[in-house]
Amino acid sequence: MKKAVPVLLVVFFLLSVAAVLFVKMKTNTSVSAESIVHAKDKETLKEYFPVPEFALVNQRGQTQTLSSFRNTVWVANFIFTQCKTICPLMTAKMVQLQKKLPTSDIQFVSFSVDPEHDTPEVLNTYANKWAPEEKRWTLFSTDEKQLNQLTQGLRITAQKTPGQIDPIMHSSVFLLIDKNGFVRGMFDSDDRKDFKRLEEAVKSMTAGSPEVPLPENGIELYHALSCANCHEDASLAPALGALVGSKRELETGLLATADDAYVRESILVPQAKRVRGYPLQMPAYDTLTSKQVDALISYISSLKSNNAAVGSAEIASDVVCHMKVRIDSSALKISTDAGVFYFCSQYCLERFTKTPHAFIH
Ligand code: HEC
Repeated sequence: MKKAVPVLLVVFFLLSVAAVLFVKMKTNTSVSAESIVHAKDKETLKEYFPVPEFALVNQRGQTQTLSSFRNTVWVANFIFTQCKTICPLMTAKMVQLQKKLPTSDIQFVSFSVDPEHDTPEVLNTYANKWAPEEKRWTLFSTDEKQLNQLTQGLRITAQKTPGQIDPIMHSSVFLLIDKNGFVRGMFDSDDRKDFKRLEEAVKSMTAGSPEVPLPENGIELYHALSCANCHEDASLAPALGALVGSKRELETGLLATADDAYVRESILVPQAKRVRGYPLQMPAYDTLTSKQVDALISYISSLKSNNAAVGSAEIASDVVCHMKVRIDSSALKISTDAGVFYFCSQYCLERFTKTPHAFIH
């Protein structure tokens, strides 16, 4: 009788361990996307696990399933449109990636983690704001059940965090998925080296096509790099209109004068002097040539404040880049059957005339 107690305890202990392991295997919660991304011995391009089945409505109002992506390589992430912290940064990176990879044999997918708010119409507006001419980008509205299946199956964290600046916390990982629906890599969009690896991995899995060089001209660069998408939205980033020459209050409480060197540093090492009051991080544009940075600086210096208080002019929004444009006799505009459209520059006007339907909704 005396011996039976320890034996029973050992048996009970072993059974408990087995039960815990079984539950972990079943739910897969032991491996998160982050732990794979940061694993020391991370294997690139191995077959990690399959994408769970789904049937979701995209921003164009069409239902698509996992099999719609058979035979194509795709890059996926999770975002929500009302997010003020990491999503604009992730989307700016997504759009840069799309521009860097002009090949037609790749698709880009963003799943919304906000089923309540992000309807196909809301996602359509978001897609048109960030990348109006991009046909390879699909944004899916989700429902709670399928969102849970996807995040669990893909090891992505997505959690409601009421009361925080962003009411949903989620992973900033980008996934690379092959033609058979297998996740072949997970990449941290916050880590420049890892994100560059994603670009290389995509190139190795697709036929590829010659890279399109970035423009050299300030205004074209400003648009090509999505600067306006954050800087024309006061809830995301400061307006750059009257920046040069002004005093800036930094997160540290110090003041800085916004001269050329300040603007240069803001573009190359944005984390060096953060402006107070913006939880969002600006991406670093440190792969630009010094000529391109100079061009951006002189473009920013040429921007006039479009503050409505300056003069009594009415303000319109450029349908291409969403910059605010003062409606006066010198404003660039086009009259179409769908109405009158104003532009910040000849560059946006030309983009509009090439594919007006991409901008009129
Ligand atoms: C994803 C959003 C985002 C994008 C895209 C972005 N920025 Fe920013 N930028 C910010 C935020 C947020 C701040 C304020 C916080 C900080 O200083 O980092 C900022 C700050 C700045 C500042 C300092 C502004 C001030 O008031 O002192 C400059 C200059 C600037 N950005 C230029 C650019 C240029 C040029 C581009 C495009 C090449 C760009 N930004 C793209 C979000 C963005």
